[in-house]
Amino acid sequence: MTSPANVARENDTITTGFPVAGEPRFESIDAVRQGLASVDYLADEGIAGVVYLADRLAKPVLVEGPAGTGKTELAKSVARLTGSRLIRLQCYEGLDESKALYEWNYKKQLLRIQAGADQAWQELEEDIFSEEFLLARPLLEAIRSPDPVVLLIDEVDRVELETEALLLEILSEYQVSIPELGTVRATQIPLVFLTSNNTRELSEALKRRCLYLHIDYPQLDRERAIIETRVPGISAALADQVARIVRSLRTLELKKLPSVSETLDWARTLVVLGVESIDAERARETLNILLKYQTDIDRAAKELAGVERTD
Ligand SMILES: Nc1ncnc2c1ncn2[C@@H]1O[C@H](COP(=O)(O)OP(=O)(O)OP(=O)(O)O)[C@@H](O)[C@H]1O
Ligand SMILES: [Mg+2]
Repeated sequence: MTSPANVARENDTITTGFPVAGEPRFESIDAVRQGLASVDYLADEGIAGVVYLADRLAKPVLVEGPAGTGKTELAKSVARLTGSRLIRLQCYEGLDESKALYEWNYKKQLLRIQAGADQAWQELEEDIFSEEFLLARPLLEAIRSPDPVVLLIDEVDRVELETEALLLEILSEYQVSIPELGTVRATQIPLVFLTSNNTRELSEALKRRCLYLHIDYPQLDRERAIIETRVPGISAALADQVARIVRSLRTLELKKLPSVSETLDWARTLVVLGVESIDAERARETLNILLKYQTDIDRAAKELAGVERTD
Protein backbone atom coordinates (compact mmCIF):
# COMPACT_ATOMS: atom_id res chain seq x y z
CA MET A 1 0.00 0.00 0.00
CA THR A 2 2.28 2.80 1.19
CA SER A 3 5.92 2.65 0.25
CA PRO A 4 8.56 3.22 2.99
CA ALA A 5 9.63 6.46 1.27
CA ASN A 6 6.06 7.66 1.39
CA VAL A 7 5.74 6.88 5.06
CA ALA A 8 8.85 8.92 5.81
CA ARG A 9 7.55 11.88 3.86
CA GLU A 10 4.14 11.71 5.43
CA ASN A 11 5.65 11.61 8.86
CA ASP A 12 7.60 14.73 7.92
CA THR A 13 4.38 16.48 6.99
CA ILE A 14 3.00 15.60 10.38
CA THR A 15 5.78 17.59 12.02
CA THR A 16 6.62 20.37 9.60
CA GLY A 17 3.60 22.59 10.15
CA PHE A 18 1.52 24.42 7.58
CA PRO A 19 1.65 23.50 3.91
CA VAL A 20 3.58 25.92 1.77
CA ALA A 21 1.39 27.42 -0.92
CA GLY A 22 2.69 26.43 -4.32
CA GLU A 23 3.35 28.60 -7.34
CA PRO A 24 0.21 30.23 -8.71
CA ARG A 25 -1.33 27.95 -11.29
CA PHE A 26 -2.79 30.69 -13.46
CA GLU A 27 -1.46 33.99 -14.79
CA SER A 28 -4.76 35.81 -15.02
CA ILE A 29 -8.50 35.34 -15.20
CA ASP A 30 -8.30 35.37 -18.95
CA ALA A 31 -5.64 32.66 -18.86
CA VAL A 32 -8.08 30.49 -16.88
CA ARG A 33 -10.82 31.10 -19.42
CA GLN A 34 -8.58 30.31 -22.37
CA GLY A 35 -7.03 27.35 -20.63
CA LEU A 36 -10.44 25.88 -19.87
CA ALA A 37 -11.50 26.45 -23.48
CA SER A 38 -8.42 24.48 -24.57
CA VAL A 39 -9.84 21.48 -22.69
CA ASP A 40 -13.32 22.08 -24.16
CA TYR A 41 -14.88 23.77 -21.14
CA LEU A 42 -16.33 27.13 -22.01
CA ALA A 43 -16.39 29.33 -18.96
CA ASP A 44 -17.71 32.85 -18.67
CA GLU A 45 -15.85 35.60 -16.85
CA GLY A 46 -17.57 34.77 -13.54
CA ILE A 47 -16.56 31.11 -13.56
CA ALA A 48 -12.99 31.84 -14.63
CA GLY A 49 -12.69 34.57 -12.01
CA VAL A 50 -13.66 32.31 -9.16
CA VAL A 51 -11.28 29.55 -10.28
CA TYR A 52 -8.48 32.11 -10.49
CA LEU A 53 -9.20 33.41 -7.00
CA ALA A 54 -9.54 29.92 -5.55
CA ASP A 55 -5.96 29.26 -6.60
CA ARG A 56 -4.58 32.57 -5.40
CA LEU A 57 -6.39 32.52 -2.06
CA ALA A 58 -6.04 28.76 -1.53
CA LYS A 59 -9.79 28.53 -0.95
CA PRO A 60 -12.23 25.77 -1.91
CA VAL A 61 -15.04 26.63 -4.31
CA LEU A 62 -18.66 25.79 -3.58
CA VAL A 63 -20.43 25.46 -6.93
CA GLU A 64 -24.20 25.61 -6.92
CA GLY A 65 -26.75 25.71 -9.69
CA PRO A 66 -29.34 23.69 -11.57
CA ALA A 67 -28.62 20.13 -12.72
CA GLY A 68 -26.52 19.61 -15.83
CA THR A 69 -24.99 23.07 -16.07
CA GLY A 70 -21.36 22.01 -15.86
CA LYS A 71 -20.59 21.98 -12.12
CA THR A 72 -18.90 18.59 -12.01
CA GLU A 73 -17.36 19.12 -15.41
CA LEU A 74 -15.69 22.30 -14.19
CA ALA A 75 -13.66 20.40 -11.59
CA LYS A 76 -12.76 17.71 -14.11
CA SER A 77 -11.71 20.33 -16.64
CA VAL A 78 -9.55 22.22 -14.13
CA ALA A 79 -7.83 18.91 -13.34
CA ARG A 80 -7.18 18.31 -17.03
CA LEU A 81 -5.97 21.85 -17.54
CA THR A 82 -3.52 21.78 -14.64
CA GLY A 83 -2.39 18.20 -15.25
CA SER A 84 -3.61 17.25 -11.75
CA ARG A 85 -5.02 14.00 -10.52
CA LEU A 86 -8.76 14.24 -9.95
CA ILE A 87 -9.80 12.72 -6.64
CA ARG A 88 -13.55 12.51 -6.31
CA LEU A 89 -15.69 12.01 -3.26
CA GLN A 90 -19.21 11.25 -4.44
CA CYS A 91 -21.53 12.19 -1.58
CA TYR A 92 -24.65 10.27 -0.65
CA GLU A 93 -26.95 9.92 2.30
CA GLY A 94 -25.22 7.82 4.91
CA LEU A 95 -21.67 8.66 3.82
CA ASP A 96 -19.48 8.43 6.89
CA GLU A 97 -15.94 9.01 8.05
CA SER A 98 -14.76 5.55 7.06
CA LYS A 99 -15.76 6.16 3.44
CA ALA A 100 -14.80 9.82 3.23
CA LEU A 101 -11.64 10.16 5.30
CA TYR A 102 -9.93 6.97 6.40
CA GLU A 103 -10.49 3.66 8.06
CA TRP A 104 -8.20 1.30 9.95
CA ASN A 105 -7.50 -1.94 8.16
CA TYR A 106 -8.93 -4.22 10.88
CA LYS A 107 -8.14 -7.47 9.13
CA LYS A 108 -4.52 -6.56 8.72
CA GLN A 109 -4.34 -5.29 12.29
CA LEU A 110 -5.74 -8.61 13.57
CA LEU A 111 -3.21 -10.56 11.57
CA ARG A 112 -0.44 -8.41 12.95
CA ILE A 113 -1.67 -8.96 16.50
CA GLN A 114 -1.80 -12.71 15.92
CA ALA A 115 1.67 -12.75 14.39
CA GLY A 116 3.09 -10.80 17.32
CA ALA A 117 1.35 -12.68 20.11
CA ASP A 118 4.55 -12.79 22.16
CA GLN A 119 5.27 -9.04 21.76
CA ALA A 120 4.50 -6.40 24.37
CA TRP A 121 1.09 -4.80 23.81
CA GLN A 122 2.44 -1.27 23.71
CA GLU A 123 4.81 -2.17 20.94
CA LEU A 124 2.02 -3.88 19.02
CA GLU A 125 -0.34 -0.99 19.53
CA GLU A 126 2.15 1.51 18.15
CA ASP A 127 2.62 -0.70 15.17
CA ILE A 128 -0.99 -1.37 14.27
CA PHE A 129 -1.92 2.31 14.46
CA SER A 130 0.71 3.38 11.97
CA GLU A 131 0.43 4.41 8.31
CA GLU A 132 0.82 0.87 7.14
CA PHE A 133 -2.54 -0.09 8.63
CA LEU A 134 -4.46 2.93 7.40
CA LEU A 135 -6.83 2.80 4.44
CA ALA A 136 -6.96 6.30 2.97
CA ARG A 137 -10.31 7.38 1.55
CA PRO A 138 -10.66 10.26 -0.94
CA LEU A 139 -10.27 13.20 1.48
CA LEU A 140 -7.15 11.86 3.17
CA GLU A 141 -5.80 10.66 -0.13
CA ALA A 142 -6.11 14.17 -1.57
CA ILE A 143 -4.43 15.71 1.44
CA ARG A 144 -1.43 13.45 1.48
CA SER A 145 -0.90 13.15 -2.25
CA PRO A 146 2.59 14.35 -3.16
CA ASP A 147 1.35 15.18 -6.67
CA PRO A 148 -0.96 18.03 -7.67
CA VAL A 149 -4.57 17.17 -7.00
CA VAL A 150 -8.00 18.55 -7.76
CA LEU A 151 -10.39 17.34 -5.08
CA LEU A 152 -14.03 17.12 -6.17
CA ILE A 153 -16.56 16.73 -3.37
CA ASP A 154 -19.56 16.08 -5.55
CA GLU A 155 -23.18 16.67 -4.53
CA VAL A 156 -22.34 17.68 -1.00
CA ASP A 157 -25.99 18.53 -0.29
CA ARG A 158 -26.75 14.80 -0.26
CA VAL A 159 -24.92 14.15 3.00
CA GLU A 160 -26.57 14.85 6.32
CA LEU A 161 -25.81 18.14 8.01
CA GLU A 162 -23.71 16.39 10.69
CA THR A 163 -21.53 14.71 8.08
CA GLU A 164 -20.60 18.10 6.66
CA ALA A 165 -18.53 18.59 9.80
CA LEU A 166 -16.10 15.97 8.52
CA LEU A 167 -15.16 18.35 5.76
CA LEU A 168 -14.51 21.46 7.77
CA GLU A 169 -10.95 20.75 8.88
CA ILE A 170 -9.86 19.91 5.37
CA LEU A 171 -11.56 22.90 3.83
CA SER A 172 -10.01 25.47 6.12
CA GLU A 173 -6.66 23.97 7.07
CA TYR A 174 -5.99 21.30 4.48
CA GLN A 175 -5.29 18.78 7.17
CA VAL A 176 -6.80 15.66 8.71
CA SER A 177 -6.48 14.80 12.39
CA ILE A 178 -6.19 11.12 13.13
CA PRO A 179 -6.39 10.59 16.89
CA GLU A 180 -4.09 7.55 16.97
CA LEU A 181 -1.57 8.95 14.53
CA GLY A 182 -1.46 12.72 14.56
CA THR A 183 -2.29 15.43 12.08
CA VAL A 184 -1.67 14.85 8.42
CA ARG A 185 -1.11 18.13 6.61
CA ALA A 186 -1.12 18.71 2.91
CA THR A 187 2.27 19.10 1.27
CA GLN A 188 0.60 20.92 -1.61
CA ILE A 189 -2.71 22.73 -1.41
CA PRO A 190 -5.19 20.97 -3.66
CA LEU A 191 -7.78 22.87 -5.64
CA VAL A 192 -11.07 21.84 -4.07
CA PHE A 193 -14.51 21.99 -5.68
CA LEU A 194 -17.72 21.16 -3.85
CA THR A 195 -20.87 20.90 -5.92
CA SER A 196 -24.45 21.18 -4.75
CA ASN A 197 -27.86 21.07 -6.38
CA ASN A 198 -29.19 23.02 -3.46
CA THR A 199 -31.61 20.32 -2.32
CA ARG A 200 -31.00 21.61 1.19
CA GLU A 201 -29.27 24.53 2.84
CA LEU A 202 -25.62 23.91 3.59
CA SER A 203 -24.23 24.92 6.95
CA GLU A 204 -22.88 28.40 7.55
CA ALA A 205 -19.61 26.85 8.69
CA LEU A 206 -19.14 25.14 5.36
CA LYS A 207 -20.15 28.15 3.30
CA ARG A 208 -17.82 30.42 5.22
CA ARG A 209 -14.83 28.34 4.21
CA CYS A 210 -15.57 28.47 0.50
CA LEU A 211 -15.74 30.87 -2.38
CA TYR A 212 -19.21 30.75 -3.84
CA LEU A 213 -19.95 30.17 -7.52
CA HIS A 214 -23.41 29.95 -8.99
CA ILE A 215 -23.48 28.34 -12.43
CA ASP A 216 -26.76 29.04 -14.16
CA TYR A 217 -27.93 28.10 -17.65
CA PRO A 218 -25.50 29.73 -20.08
CA GLN A 219 -26.24 32.78 -22.18
CA LEU A 220 -27.18 32.11 -25.77
CA ASP A 221 -23.69 32.73 -27.18
CA ARG A 222 -21.99 30.48 -24.68
CA GLU A 223 -24.47 27.66 -25.09
CA ARG A 224 -24.09 27.84 -28.86
CA ALA A 225 -20.31 27.68 -28.46
CA ILE A 226 -20.63 24.73 -26.05
CA ILE A 227 -22.73 22.89 -28.63
CA GLU A 228 -20.22 23.57 -31.37
CA THR A 229 -17.36 22.42 -29.15
CA ARG A 230 -19.00 19.29 -27.81
CA VAL A 231 -20.98 18.04 -30.79
CA PRO A 232 -18.69 17.01 -33.61
CA GLY A 233 -20.04 17.56 -37.09
CA ILE A 234 -22.76 20.05 -36.21
CA SER A 235 -23.21 23.06 -38.45
CA ALA A 236 -23.08 26.56 -37.00
CA ALA A 237 -26.64 27.14 -38.20
CA LEU A 238 -28.04 24.05 -36.46
CA ALA A 239 -26.11 24.82 -33.25
CA ASP A 240 -27.64 28.26 -33.29
CA GLN A 241 -31.15 26.91 -33.80
CA VAL A 242 -30.75 24.37 -31.02
CA ALA A 243 -29.46 26.98 -28.60
CA ARG A 244 -32.32 29.35 -29.42
CA ILE A 245 -35.06 26.76 -29.08
CA VAL A 246 -33.67 25.47 -25.77
CA ARG A 247 -33.46 29.02 -24.54
CA SER A 248 -37.07 29.71 -25.42
CA LEU A 249 -38.18 26.46 -23.75
CA ARG A 250 -36.43 27.54 -20.55
CA THR A 251 -38.80 30.48 -20.32
CA LEU A 252 -41.77 28.11 -20.01
CA GLU A 253 -43.14 26.86 -16.73
CA LEU A 254 -41.76 23.34 -16.95
CA LYS A 255 -41.31 20.74 -14.27
CA LYS A 256 -37.71 20.23 -15.30
CA LEU A 257 -35.99 22.76 -17.53
CA PRO A 258 -33.62 21.37 -20.17
CA SER A 259 -30.00 21.43 -18.98
CA VAL A 260 -26.83 21.89 -20.98
CA SER A 261 -26.25 18.15 -20.99
CA GLU A 262 -29.73 17.62 -22.44
CA THR A 263 -29.12 20.33 -25.03
CA LEU A 264 -26.01 18.43 -26.08
CA ASP A 265 -27.89 15.12 -26.22
CA TRP A 266 -30.53 16.74 -28.39
CA ALA A 267 -27.96 18.31 -30.71
CA ARG A 268 -26.17 14.95 -31.07
CA THR A 269 -29.48 13.24 -31.84
CA LEU A 270 -30.26 15.73 -34.58
CA VAL A 271 -26.81 15.22 -36.10
CA VAL A 272 -27.24 11.43 -36.00
CA LEU A 273 -30.64 11.77 -37.69
CA GLY A 274 -29.07 13.91 -40.40
CA VAL A 275 -31.24 16.91 -39.59
CA GLU A 276 -29.84 20.11 -41.06
CA SER A 277 -32.49 22.52 -39.95
CA ILE A 278 -35.14 22.05 -37.27
CA ASP A 279 -38.76 22.74 -37.95
CA ALA A 280 -41.47 22.41 -35.34
CA GLU A 281 -42.30 18.94 -36.57
CA ARG A 282 -38.72 17.66 -36.17
CA ALA A 283 -38.42 19.37 -32.83
CA ARG A 284 -41.63 17.75 -31.55
CA GLU A 285 -40.48 14.30 -32.65
CA THR A 286 -37.30 14.56 -30.65
CA LEU A 287 -38.47 16.52 -27.62
CA ASN A 288 -38.20 13.42 -25.45
CA ILE A 289 -34.42 13.79 -25.60
CA LEU A 290 -34.62 17.28 -24.19
CA LEU A 291 -37.45 16.97 -21.69
CA LYS A 292 -38.16 14.22 -19.22
CA TYR A 293 -41.81 14.70 -18.26
CA GLN A 294 -44.75 14.09 -20.59
CA THR A 295 -46.50 17.22 -19.36
CA ASP A 296 -43.37 19.24 -20.21
CA ILE A 297 -43.18 17.64 -23.66
CA ASP A 298 -46.84 18.49 -24.34
CA ARG A 299 -46.40 22.06 -23.20
CA ALA A 300 -43.22 22.53 -25.24
CA ALA A 301 -44.82 21.00 -28.34
CA LYS A 302 -47.70 23.45 -28.05
CA GLU A 303 -45.29 26.35 -27.69
CA LEU A 304 -43.24 25.26 -30.69
CA ALA A 305 -46.36 24.91 -32.85
CA GLY A 306 -47.33 28.42 -31.78
CA VAL A 307 -43.91 29.78 -32.70
CA GLU A 308 -44.17 28.20 -36.15
CA ARG A 309 -47.63 29.66 -36.73
CA THR A 310 -46.43 33.16 -35.93
CA ASP A 311 -43.25 32.72 -38.06
N1 LIG B 1 -19.29 25.30 -19.85
C1 LIG B 1 -19.30 24.12 -20.45
N2 LIG B 1 -18.44 23.83 -21.43
C2 LIG B 1 -18.47 22.64 -22.04
N3 LIG B 1 -19.32 21.66 -21.73
C3 LIG B 1 -20.20 21.88 -20.77
C4 LIG B 1 -20.24 23.11 -20.07
N4 LIG B 1 -21.21 23.06 -19.15
C5 LIG B 1 -21.77 21.85 -19.27
N5 LIG B 1 -21.17 21.12 -20.22
C6 LIG B 1 -21.55 19.78 -20.64
O1 LIG B 1 -22.67 19.39 -19.89
C7 LIG B 1 -22.45 18.12 -19.30
C8 LIG B 1 -23.08 18.07 -17.93
O2 LIG B 1 -22.31 18.80 -17.03
P1 LIG B 1 -22.10 18.31 -15.54
O3 LIG B 1 -22.18 16.84 -15.42
O4 LIG B 1 -20.86 18.97 -15.06
O5 LIG B 1 -23.37 18.96 -14.85
P2 LIG B 1 -23.65 19.19 -13.32
O6 LIG B 1 -23.88 20.65 -13.17
O7 LIG B 1 -22.60 18.56 -12.49
O8 LIG B 1 -25.04 18.44 -13.17
P3 LIG B 1 -25.64 17.63 -11.90
O9 LIG B 1 -26.05 18.68 -10.94
O10 LIG B 1 -26.79 16.88 -12.51
O11 LIG B 1 -24.55 16.73 -11.41
C9 LIG B 1 -20.94 17.92 -19.30
O12 LIG B 1 -20.59 16.59 -19.50
C10 LIG B 1 -20.48 18.74 -20.48
O13 LIG B 1 -20.47 17.93 -21.63
MG1 LIG C 1 -22.63 16.94 -11.21
